[in-house]
Amino acid sequence: MGAIGFHSSSSSVCPIKSSGGVTRCSAAYSSRPSCFPFDMNQGRRVNCMASTIPVQEMKEEGQLRLTGDSFIRPHLRKLSPYHPILPFEVLSTRLGRKPEDIIKLDANENPYGPPPEASYKNKTSKLRNPFLVIETPVSEALGSMKFPYIYPDPESRRLRGALAQDSGLGSEYILAGCGADELIDLIMRCVLDPGDKIVDCPPTFTMYEFDAAVNGALVVKVPRKSDFSLDTELIAEVVEQESPKCIFLTSPNNPDGRLLFLAFYDLIFLDDAIGLMQSMFNCIIAGSDMITCVGILLFHSIISDEVLLKILDLPILVVLDEAYIEFSGIESRMQWVKKHENLIVLRTFSKRAGLAGLRVGYGAFPLSIIEYLWRAKQPYNVSVAAEISACAALKNPDYLEKVKMALVEERERLFQLLKEVPFLNPYPSHSNFILSEVMSGMDAKKLKEDLATMGVMIRHFNTKELKSCIRVSVGKPEHTDILMECLKSLSLNSSLC
Ligand SMILES: Cc1ncc(COP(=O)(O)O)c(C=O)c1O
Repeated sequence: MGAIGFHSSSSSVCPIKSSGGVTRCSAAYSSRPSCFPFDMNQGRRVNCMASTIPVQEMKEEGQLRLTGDSFIRPHLRKLSPYHPILPFEVLSTRLGRKPEDIIKLDANENPYGPPPEASYKNKTSKLRNPFLVIETPVSEALGSMKFPYIYPDPESRRLRGALAQDSGLGSEYILAGCGADELIDLIMRCVLDPGDKIVDCPPTFTMYEFDAAVNGALVVKVPRKSDFSLDTELIAEVVEQESPKCIFLTSPNNPDGRLLFLAFYDLIFLDDAIGLMQSMFNCIIAGSDMITCVGILLFHSIISDEVLLKILDLPILVVLDEAYIEFSGIESRMQWVKKHENLIVLRTFSKRAGLAGLRVGYGAFPLSIIEYLWRAKQPYNVSVAAEISACAALKNPDYLEKVKMALVEERERLFQLLKEVPFLNPYPSHSNFILSEVMSGMDAKKLKEDLATMGVMIRHFNTKELKSCIRVSVGKPEHTDILMECLKSLSLNSSLC
């Protein structure tokens, strides 16, 4: 599943007990796309909406006839349906445009896709060294698939071996899945009993809430602050008072693209010396080493190990979702699972390697946890095609690096261009997307719809706290150019009105 939609919910209100900034809410009532009881300004929950679908019971000639949904587990009957992003083919019919004429910037996909061509890393040295690995393009690897009629390796040995090389972590710590999405659900199935609690920090990736609902868990929400940073004090309080089993942390976060624990990144983007000095000062105060502090200067970003360690000190399983880590310039925390029995780190090939359609994700787990995921997972969760593609992608590190650099460069260009749009206020991002506030009386939802009629798909979040925002995935330079042309024409039209 790609990026998940935020949409308005329809009907009933779930039972809520509210204290301080926290709301406890049965995930069964709060479906994935809806429940964001989050007030950006006050940092307090305000409400929790969900749709409920009544069970059909029909009376026929005085006799009660049960319909099929009476067999469905009660908490699932209350689950709102998932509203996915529309695929190219459907969009194409709806918009009356050829798929190639649609600029798709709504699901944080990687427009470059997987390695398209064979690239013999260094032809001359290959001649000298016949053992040098020949890099294979994904399509070629798929085309020469030998045994598509045989079930895949349930242990994804080739892929885990390649990932071990790629990450430096032993393959015994790594488990692959049908996208990171599958692993989120698998973790919950292994960890949560119905009625157990998870901590969610909205606005964030809505699959955590959705999967909690499917697994009959309760969601305790600790909203992010108005700058999208985590409220770590409140998280500690909630862990003490509510004894949740696990917490899901996304870094960089979706939909804002910021790194966790980073409150002063924006200062740097002010491009002013005072902001930069302030950031350095904060970094030193936070007790970071000199390399990290200098890193602020060099990389415009920093993540605080200290805060992550503080959360890891709590009696809670921490699931750190690094779906977008490659675009952040900081190191993955995969290695940390060797030291921390309560840390899981999730990664994906969807963004990094342009393989969203083939569904490959992976996670790093402590050995004491991974054993149970092996027992509970579907045996053939990673298809032959998915494993072959992911391995082929990993054999092309130069291509992956080039694509990442192109997207990071384009993100910065897009950011500067969006800043020039009079009705947009973009947030700095460490990901392959940019969240922007829509201002000056312009309606964000209408903006998204107007762009769609022009063939440019972006994301709008129909939730209280984000409904005045849009999220634009970073595309190729030509996608940015078309987007900017469309925004310009909308800007002109609105000023003519
Ligand atoms: C934060 C986050 N985690 C995980 C995923 C899902 O990754 P995958 O495509 O591997 O299921 C997404 C997809 O958009 C995401 O935004």
